[in-house]
Amino acid sequence: MVNPLMNRKINRGINRVAKFILLFCFLVLAQWGNAQNKINGKKIYETRCLVCHQSDGGGVPNMNPPLDGATNVNGKDIARLVKIIRNGYDERVALDGMYYNNAMAANPDLKEDAIADVLTYIRTSWSNKAGVVTTSQVKAALLKNKAAKK
Ligand code: HEC
Repeated sequence: MVNPLMNRKINRGINRVAKFILLFCFLVLAQWGNAQNKINGKKIYETRCLVCHQSDGGGVPNMNPPLDGATNVNGKDIARLVKIIRNGYDERVALDGMYYNNAMAANPDLKEDAIADVLTYIRTSWSNKAGVVTTSQVKAALLKNKAAKK
């Protein structure tokens, strides 16, 4: 027989282990979720972006900018990136000091989660280490762009 005090101690121990296991499962699931996003993002990239930005993200000189190592791609302005994916891009402004004369087509049919996945892919592939973009970040960006009538 265990006395009540011992019992309480054992319970507390079990509690701690349970919490630890829960946290562990949560972290594993979160990582798995990110990996799934990146796999889906890669598929989208291969069907819609690779033809111009190339499989190594290196782009084509004077035509399509590189995404690998690009300041904007790794930057904090998610709303700008979302806008470019949704509406296309033909600004002919300097990107990391270079000009590109091709025009990027719009992707009006890409849903919020798909935009998040492809942005996650380009921001975490090749030498890029900018990190994931979530669906709620994309939703917020679309609202922000709408408010600014972009
Ligand atoms: C028809 C070729 C083409 C396709 C397809 C294309 N892009 Fe682009 N992309 C471009 C060009 C050209 C520019 C630069 C346009 C300019 O400078 O006016 C650009 C610009 C960008 C930029 C901005 C880069 C920077 O440094 O600011 C991002 C991000 C981008 N593209 C991502 C994508 C993604 C993701 C896809 C697929 C969903 C995609 N592009 C599909 C040609 C393309």
